Amino acid sequence: MDGEASTSAPANATEQPDANDQVITPWDVKGGADGRIDYDKLRRDFGCAEVDDELVRRIERLTGVPAHPFLKRKVFYAHRDLSPLLDAYEKGEPFYLYTGRGPSSENLHLGHLIPFQFTAWLQRAFRVPLVIQITDDEKALWRSLKLEEARRLARENIKDIIACGFDPEMTFIFSDIDHMGAGGSEGSAFYCNCLRIMSMVNCNHVRSIFGLTASDNIGKIMFPAIQAAPAFSDSFPHMFGAKKGIRCLVPCAIDQDPYFRMTRDVAQRMGHKKVSLLESRFFPALQGENGKMSASDPTSAIFVTDTAAQIKNKINRYAFSGGGETVEEHRAIGANLDVDVPWKYLNFFMEDDMRLREIGREYGAGRMLTGEVKKELIGVLQKMVAAQQARRAKVDDAEVARFTTVRPMPDLFAGARARA
Ligand code: TYM
Ligand code: TRP
Repeated sequence: MDGEASTSAPANATEQPDANDQVITPWDVKGGADGRIDYDKLRRDFGCAEVDDELVRRIERLTGVPAHPFLKRKVFYAHRDLSPLLDAYEKGEPFYLYTGRGPSSENLHLGHLIPFQFTAWLQRAFRVPLVIQITDDEKALWRSLKLEEARRLARENIKDIIACGFDPEMTFIFSDIDHMGAGGSEGSAFYCNCLRIMSMVNCNHVRSIFGLTASDNIGKIMFPAIQAAPAFSDSFPHMFGAKKGIRCLVPCAIDQDPYFRMTRDVAQRMGHKKVSLLESRFFPALQGENGKMSASDPTSAIFVTDTAAQIKNKINRYAFSGGGETVEEHRAIGANLDVDVPWKYLNFFMEDDMRLREIGREYGAGRMLTGEVKKELIGVLQKMVAAQQARRAKVDDAEVARFTTVRPMPDLFAGARARA
């Protein structure tokens, strides 16, 4: 267990924060006094364990494949209860993956790709099934989107997500609005679990975790139960039958942690094991590390729909540089890599470890200029985004239906067992 502070936890959202405190909730990310996010403090405040080299090596041993760069470079840097999940996997007890997206914008930005690219890798490496929840209901409640608009965005986002490369045989993607009541004469197992969770959590509990107030709409008080339910295997009878207690691993950015603290609080009473988590840092805004890339501020974000020219423009115009003010100064003291956005972005998306290290060395010493580093980054992003767009173009309605139809999904664990 990761000595955790679950229910009474992070003061972050509850106590009146000091203007200088960092604030990280599922809908707000703000750095501390110097504007930056202290990730180690955040992890400790939340009560999560650290992803260390030993854990990364263990995952490589168990899966027989080299770790994804997001794991090697500790983009996914915090976890809850990963060790018991891996212990069980090692003994032949598989698990399923669960992640999600709140469709607040027409298109995904590069930050959103991080959990989905990583989840696709986890699915391939461990050969396990996956559910992806699209919380169009959440965005209707929080962003006062019209329900029709939220559903439309959900359908668009699902195509971007499919383009990240999931296995259609082992993946179920659903919109909350579409799926909530589905169940026919048996009733909806998913909605039943939502109701069970709602009956176990009181308003004080939700308020203490999420910082909601009495003037928030009542949907917001209820919604966390809906994000919790997919972490319980019997919410999906077409995948897992009525079986309880199949282990679940959620990859997400650390802003989603509050939802899963609540989920873990009710697990035992639901007759399930506590969900395990692997949590990432944020992909920073173009303007710098004081927040996360956010779709609501287009100048902060690069979208999966941006053209090669737009990517080039945004990086050149907006990406915050830690380089010297003048070439002379830069040559003399080098770039401040701690605040340099192009360097940060390369650490997420440049696959070549050797080249990355070389750029860090040369740029940090002032031998490479910001313009040269940006050029390198532009190339990396243009290539990745073009590949994403090519896959997205092939996702038609039939392909969407392959992922979203409630269908019998037998033998979901055959692949994981074969790996044994
Ligand atoms: P949403 O749509 O805000 O974000 C979707 C996923 O992307 C992560 N994310 C980021 N990761 C890195 N850098 C960023 N700048 C960045 N911005 C967002 C989020 O943490 C999330 O993993 N309530 C959720 C939807 C949801 C969900 C889940 C997410 C439902 N069930 C289970 C994760 C796991 C939401 O609105 O996510
Ligand atoms: N056979 C795997 C290995 O040699 C370990 C393993 C045992 C396993 N049981 C499993 C993997 C069940 C997946 C599912 O590394």
